[in-house]
Amino acid sequence: MQVAVLNGVNLNMLGRRDPAMYGTVTLSQLETMVYGWGKELHATVRCWQTNSEGEYVTMIHEAVTGTDGLIVNPGAWTHYSYAIRDALEIFPRPVVEVHLSDIEGREEWRRTSVIADVVSHRILGKGPDGYREALQHLVETV
Ligand code: DQA
Repeated sequence: MQVAVLNGVNLNMLGRRDPAMYGTVTLSQLETMVYGWGKELHATVRCWQTNSEGEYVTMIHEAVTGTDGLIVNPGAWTHYSYAIRDALEIFPRPVVEVHLSDIEGREEWRRTSVIADVVSHRILGKGPDGYREALQHLVETV
């Protein structure tokens, strides 16, 4: 099973962002954990991160071929990017939306996710462990 993990804008700055919201784990530590969980669950995982919205959309398009499931954390794009929403709608297999923080318990503007109705499952506020849960979910459903 092939899974792509797509982290979006500002997630390369994990470890330097508000630790109360995002913890202290860096993106590279998070990716190392995700690769380890992938091995345990017998899934082949590829992790990507970009700060360019167009590149993020292209990554989703490319995943349409050969990827069985997606784990997406688009960062702030979650709250307003209809381009990413439309791209996810094209993806024909399960998509799990993950956020390190509980976006539903934060500022009003973060409570809206424009991708929520095109994903198969959502995991909010569980920190890095949310990615493990997302992988587990994909392994069980795909
Ligand atoms: C985030 C939540 C978003 O609101 C924020 O803009 C991020 C990270 C999260 O993982 O909690 O960059 O997606």
